[in-house]
Amino acid sequence: MKGIILAGGTGSRLFPSTLACSKQMLTVYDKPMIYYPLSILMLAGIREILIISTPRDIPGFKELFGDGKQLGLDISYKIQEQPKGLAEAFIIGEEFIGRDSVCMILGDNLFYGNSLSAAVQRAAKLTDGAVLFLYHVDNPSDYGVATIDSNGAVTEIEEKPINPKSRYAVTGLYFYDNDIVNIAKSVTPSKRGELEITSVNNEYIKRGKVRAEFLNRGNAWLDTGTHKTMLEASMFIQAIESRQGLYIACIEEIAFRQGFINKEQLIALGQKMKNSDYGQYLLRLAEGDGV
Ligand code: TTP
Repeated sequence: MKGIILAGGTGSRLFPSTLACSKQMLTVYDKPMIYYPLSILMLAGIREILIISTPRDIPGFKELFGDGKQLGLDISYKIQEQPKGLAEAFIIGEEFIGRDSVCMILGDNLFYGNSLSAAVQRAAKLTDGAVLFLYHVDNPSDYGVATIDSNGAVTEIEEKPINPKSRYAVTGLYFYDNDIVNIAKSVTPSKRGELEITSVNNEYIKRGKVRAEFLNRGNAWLDTGTHKTMLEASMFIQAIESRQGLYIACIEEIAFRQGFINKEQLIALGQKMKNSDYGQYLLRLAEGDGV
């Protein structure tokens, strides 16, 4: 299973903060936003990762992660010239995907919760069909909304419906088999001119190949599209990290715990950032402090 982080877009709801830099580079409490989706891919055990972003922002991500070796990952990069829709990622990423299945996560999606690691590890075993993660929300009309039958199966997804048929939003975490590339190529752009992920997902539903994973209330799926939701996400992360003394989406810690890197590599990463609490946390972990 390969992983794609889609981290382009214009971030226009965050202007002026995103006039000169990527939304995904902005801070959510104590780390860049893109750390959060990257951490989910790593927790799923995915190590070959493609970051797709704008011509302007790719150099920044390269500066941040390089080839990913320091994290035991293999990170590559591709440009999306224009924000022409989420499903375009699979066309841009065709060569990277090759004959594999693929997980895509949006660069501005934050997930946190107890059962999440197990759920994404399960989904990463997929070889046929698609797994979508659904989340009960107060404002379904802002999202792709799943219609669910009495057996809990998804029968349709409607993009930003005025009269939503459920409160289950399709989150920005998707797992697909290799058919995704051809399906993405076959969808026609929507009225807003985008290759919609909802069109792709409806094709999988038509084929009877979608499995829904319901993220229950023990999980958080946070939005970071506006200044208000960004601040709320920062406060959420801060509250948990301060209370527990354990970091959320600490990619270096995950790399260490997953066995992608050894203790010496973790120390080297901590040393580079030793002036920050974050760096000190890595050094403490290497000394064996923590769970
Ligand atoms: P959106 O929040 O829909 O768009 P945006 O990030 O450009 O923000 P705004 O609405 O404020 O202008 O995008 C969701 C995520 O998908 C975000 O991480 C950016 C990414 N994205 C792309 O990389 N390419 C695209 O073509 C689109 C539509 C989104």
